[in-house]
Amino acid sequence: MFDVEKIRKDFPILERKIWDDKPLVYLDNAATTQKPKAVIESLVNYYENYNANIHRGVHKLAEEATSVYELVRDKVKNLVSCKDNSEVIFTRNTTESINLLAHSLGESLNEGDEILLTEMEHHSNIIPWYLLRNRKKINIRFVPITDQYELDYEKLEKLVTKKTKIISVTHKSNVLGVINDIGRISTGTSGCRPLLIVDAAQSVPHMKINFADLGCDFLVFSSHKMCGPTGVGVLVGKKESLEKIPPFLGGGEMVRKVTFDNFTSNDVPWKFEAGTPNIADVIAFGTAIEYLEKIGLENIHKYEIELTKYALEKLSGFNFLKIYNSRGVGIITFSNPVVHPHDIATIVDQEGVAVRAGHHCAQPLMSRLGVLATTRASFYFYNTKKEIDIFIDALQKAFDYFEVGACKELKQERVDLVSVQKKDK
Ligand code: ALA
Repeated sequence: MFDVEKIRKDFPILERKIWDDKPLVYLDNAATTQKPKAVIESLVNYYENYNANIHRGVHKLAEEATSVYELVRDKVKNLVSCKDNSEVIFTRNTTESINLLAHSLGESLNEGDEILLTEMEHHSNIIPWYLLRNRKKINIRFVPITDQYELDYEKLEKLVTKKTKIISVTHKSNVLGVINDIGRISTGTSGCRPLLIVDAAQSVPHMKINFADLGCDFLVFSSHKMCGPTGVGVLVGKKESLEKIPPFLGGGEMVRKVTFDNFTSNDVPWKFEAGTPNIADVIAFGTAIEYLEKIGLENIHKYEIELTKYALEKLSGFNFLKIYNSRGVGIITFSNPVVHPHDIATIVDQEGVAVRAGHHCAQPLMSRLGVLATTRASFYFYNTKKEIDIFIDALQKAFDYFEVGACKELKQERVDLVSVQKKDK
């Protein structure tokens, strides 16, 4: 598929030793990914050679910076196959993209309108809608998940009514790793046509996405989860939808004309990019896209399926673990009733293994799963089976330390999914 060992040489950080002598095993890729040398060099090159503000100056440096920045819109357009580069808006992160939508789409909502989310959403796809609810007296409903940790599509269909104005759903859960079938959502709305927002923060970096095929109105994701710098988010939207909604932030660059009375907005996409943008990081994000496309997103997806299968096989021996993954890819989240996830994460860290423990910014999902926290290992294309072996050994050490050996006999009862929605239904 591709030469992982060769690819690893592109990432300086992967040579790092943790605690002096342990090779770094970085399995926290759902939180953020590592950066290849090309991306780091792209940042340095911008600052050393053509640092200037964009869209303002007519001097050579400003023109160079503007054209390289704007070229990244084309790269994003090609990456997700949207129609036009004006459909690509740069924000600070996925969270800001969703806040933008909640604010700007929210302007036209009325009391009693409904927004449909799912029980597997990240806080970033919940709180912006709660904030909107406070302003607009709208209702928010959650589509449940099944006890196979998948979206309940039948219930979803029933929850869509004439009042539903927006459905905002994650493409791939940052906890369960499950990839939702967005096609089933877009076509399953029988006559009603709410706007569909897809949070693709965990999918665009790992698989080939086609905006038109997904059938959604808006797609949001972040650079830092796909080998690019932090501080850059993307909002892709159909041009006609973007043109209809008001700007989110006001300031320089998002205006065409300002008087002592009022202002006229700029065209999309600039209407949504107030102030000096994150020029260097957008440019380096362009380099990250090129890098990923060279490896091939289809290849990355296939390789992660293989890594996940391998890790799940190895973990199947840990019969005292509850694993929240039935068809998830690249993300394995688990818990044990005796050992706290933070303790597991701290002990595997002693072996150089970086995983995330906690609620993963998905507290409603945790309550649905009947836990306060879990441990999560998440993979990317530069991880290897050998690293998974190191992780498994480290995990064994953690459980040995807490004498969970005795726990091996623990009959792990399936915790029935607790519906947090009962009172809403
Ligand atoms: N959303 C990121 C995660 O799941 C930060 O870790």
